[in-house]
Formats: sequence, C-alpha cells, structure tokens
Amino acid sequence: MTRPLIHAREPSVTRIEDARFAHGSEEEFASMLDFYNVRWEYEPRTFALRRDEDGRVLEAFSPDFYLTDLDLYVELTTLKQGLVTDKHRKLRRLRELYPEINIKLLYKRDYLSLLAKYGIGAAHEQEAMGVREVLFTASEIERRVNELGAEITRDYAGKEPLLVGVLKGVTCFMADLMRHMSLPLAVDFMTISSYDGDRSGAVRIMQDLSENIEGRDVLIVEDIVDTGMTLNHLMRQLQARNPASLRVVALLDKRVRRLVNVPLDYVGFEVPDAFVVGYGLDHAQRFRNLPFVATFGAEKLRAQEPAEHE
Ligand code: IMP
Ligand code: MG
Repeated sequence: MTRPLIHAREPSVTRIEDARFAHGSEEEFASMLDFYNVRWEYEPRTFALRRDEDGRVLEAFSPDFYLTDLDLYVELTTLKQGLVTDKHRKLRRLRELYPEINIKLLYKRDYLSLLAKYGIGAAHEQEAMGVREVLFTASEIERRVNELGAEITRDYAGKEPLLVGVLKGVTCFMADLMRHMSLPLAVDFMTISSYDGDRSGAVRIMQDLSENIEGRDVLIVEDIVDTGMTLNHLMRQLQARNPASLRVVALLDKRVRRLVNVPLDYVGFEVPDAFVVGYGLDHAQRFRNLPFVATFGAEKLRAQEPAEHE
C-alpha cells in the first residue's frame, strides 16, 4: 500500500513572523511551505566548509531552509550569475564533506516558475507568456493513455477500483483513461485549493468526494505532479479514511522539481522543468482545451536565466 511521506503534525517549526529573511523571495517560499503544511526552519544550521590548521572555520555555508519532515535543505538562489557560480562551488564542497545531507538548489528560474504557476508572478512577465513548443501530440498522448489503461486493467483484475480525479486539470486524462480500462469501476472527483500568495491560507479540500472510500481500492488520477505538495496533502487525507489500497496514476511527472517525494505508481510521461498547458492543464484557466501538451512561458525570462542545473 502506498503511504504518504509526511504525517499530520503541528504547523511550521519556525513561524513566519519570527524568521529574519534576507530576501522577499525567501518569505514567499516560507509562506508557500506553510500553505502546504510542510514544516521548515530558516537557516538552522551552518556547515563548515574549510578550516585552517588550528581548526578555525575559514568558510561556511548556511542553507536557507531545512524542511524538517523531508530531511531536505533548500537553498534559494536569486542572485546574479557570478554569485551562482560561487554557490555551486560551495554546494559541491558541502556534498563532499557531508554526503549524508540532502540539499536542493532552487534557481531564480525555478522560483519564478513556482510563482507563475500559482499565478502570482509580475504582470509584465505574464503578458510576455505564450505557448512555446509541443511536447506530446494528441496521438502520442492517446497511445500512452491506452497503454496505461491496459496496465491498470491487468493490475486491478478482479477488483472494482474507484478512480479519484483531482479537478480541474484531470478532465481530459480521466475521460480517456477510464475508456481504456475494461473493468467495473466508479469515478469520483475532488477539488483542492492551491497557493495564491495569501499568508493566512492553508491547502484544503474545496470540494470533497461523494463516495465513501473505506475498504475501496482507490486510484488517484492526477494531471501532473510537480513539487508533490498537493498530492502529499491529498494522500494524507485519503489514507486517513482507510481505503483497502491507495495508488496514484499521473499523466505527467515533473520529477526534476519534486520537493516532497510522493511515490507514483503509474506515470504517462516525464516532463522537463517547464510549465506546461493543454490536454486539461491550464495557465490562469486557459489552454485546457488544447488537444496536445505544450510548454508555456516567457521567452524573455528563458533567455536571461542560466540554463544549467547541477
Ligand atoms: P504540486 O503541488 O507542485 O505537485 O502541483 C500540483 C498541481 O499544480 C497540479 O495538479 C496542477 O494543477 C498544477 N501544476 C503543476 N505544474 C503545472 C504545469 O506545468 N502546468 C499546469 N499546471 C501545473
Ligand atoms: Mg491539479
């Protein structure tokens, strides 16, 4: 049985009012973590990177965040390219000296796309945005969804699964997937709020299931898993209702951006680190009706930001 990785708990270790952030971006990031009930500490630990002969620390590094339950350090990089290079060097050194540490570097580009995803980026950036490149054509999607349907049909033989779709992005995928499953099955839907920059908000179920899932074989159907924070929250909620089994099928897996490592049982396609629209996926509610999946973004931003990831 698939289990969510974080468990119900008190809100953040550090309270947003108490942290002394160096940048607005850090505060925004903290506020987003709060929204998804991901506990964090701000700069809780300093790692010595270089010492002199007497053991005095010559160089040190304090990652911006520690995500307590994920055992993950996160460093936000909103700086100029020259400083990024220095940060890369420090991070390499940190990983050599402390191989047991999990640390993730979020670039300015990652951070801006997080904001753009929640529709709270700067207005002029939104305006310059458009559909860029088709990643998966309608027929590629059709073929893959057909395969997924066949695989799930085999795995659930003799059972009567309940497909739980997360609205609204899942509409196209759900409609196609269920028609490629030759099993008795039921479908249900729910709506979950997403981060909107409101400090007082928290992720919640806006529209709950109409079915009781206790003892049922539940298959969550998701359009895309990005940071994993939405799915993590959802799985905690559903697991608590004691289904017989709980699995996940996601059409798209944006694995490179994962913060919370939720296990996905079935994946249609892996997508690169880009915002995508179409086949149900939106940007500010538009583009859901495109029959293909395409990248969406601002050319200007892409050209400016460093392309490399370590
Ligand atoms: P997560 O909580 O970061 O994993 O985000 C999950 C939700 O954000 C998905 O269910 C989508 O609704 C939305 N989302 C994430 N990435 C994209 C994207 O590239 N295009 C459109 N929506 C996205
Ligand atoms: Mg969604």
